[in-house]
Amino acid sequence: MDATAINEPGRDRSAASITLEDVGKTYPDGTVAVGDFSLEVRAGELAVLIGPSGCGKSTILRMINRLIEPTHGRILIDGQNVLERNPVELRRHIGYVIQNVGLFPHQNIRTNVGTVPRMLGWDKAKIAARSDELLELVGLDPARYSKRYPHELSGGQRQRVGVARALAADPLVLLMDEPFSAVDPIARGRLQEEFLKLQATVRKTIVLVTHDIDEAVRLGDRIAVLGEGGTLRQYAPPAELLSRPASAAVADFVGADRGIRRLAVTPIRTALQAGATADGKPTVDAGGTLYDALAAMLAADVSEVVVVENGQAIGTVSRAGLFEEHSRESRPAA
Ligand SMILES: Nc1ncnc2c1ncn2[C@@H]1O[C@H](COP(=O)(O)OP(=O)(O)O)[C@@H](O)[C@H]1O
Ligand SMILES: [Mg+2]
Repeated sequence: MDATAINEPGRDRSAASITLEDVGKTYPDGTVAVGDFSLEVRAGELAVLIGPSGCGKSTILRMINRLIEPTHGRILIDGQNVLERNPVELRRHIGYVIQNVGLFPHQNIRTNVGTVPRMLGWDKAKIAARSDELLELVGLDPARYSKRYPHELSGGQRQRVGVARALAADPLVLLMDEPFSAVDPIARGRLQEEFLKLQATVRKTIVLVTHDIDEAVRLGDRIAVLGEGGTLRQYAPPAELLSRPASAAVADFVGADRGIRRLAVTPIRTALQAGATADGKPTVDAGGTLYDALAAMLAADVSEVVVVENGQAIGTVSRAGLFEEHSRESRPAA
């Protein structure tokens, strides 16, 4: 079977929208894990679910691939209700990455990555080729790692294999539950960085759960801040969430240093004053963020930097300009 033919016939895209409509889950013991939750994730976007422990994040994620059956509500993937599909078949088209990955310990890396293609009946040569391609994509040399077993890899490498496995059959949707939280902070930063690059290539629709606001701001196109019982407190792009938290509870959750966090997700262009450029000032690249501009100002103890694009000075950013309202645009257009 062909990788592009595993979903609906005639499929010509690599991502699908996800719509949750008044979805809820009450466990048999009466626990209302999620009361009434609605969310729209556009095709190719990465939505982050963040909130305190026990607020229902994992439950929401696992309802999307029907590892947990909702008590009520509708879940649509590209307009089609997943509750009307065969759950086992559905899960073959939804990548799922969890903390500590859950690789099969007695299978080598190639076999682990080929799990879903094998279930779909691909032939051996094709599975091997796909596995190599994906290991390459997540930064692991297949010649070196294909034949290894999970215990012969570092935590960060295992996590990369988990991502490769989730992508193996080219799913439309990727669900990730605290995927990077088990690795140390340095490896985590690197994994996040690589993952952003990977997403720029594969452009999946992703729902990622985290309890780390820095991770949410770094990775999310939009962030859903949840409260107890899966209540949605705010759903907004990172820069908007940080500059305009919808309530005291959200402001509290995103933290007192949200001003600095906001600079890191706001493009330099939003504060650019075109024209006159002064000689001898430190320069920053036009593709950077306001955080880069602030760092350059602090390093040189000046209150203005020159913005350069392709080696040309195109304007300046002033220290005062950094702290004006720049929330119109959360991210430069892709
Ligand atoms: N099988 C279960 N039976 C009863 N309650 C559960 C079950 N699984 C989870 N819960 C409860 O549902 C709530 C939400 O859990 P969960 O979705 O795992 O939260 P989070 O991922 O945000 O930490 C918690 O109060 C948790 O204790
Ligand atoms: Mg959880």
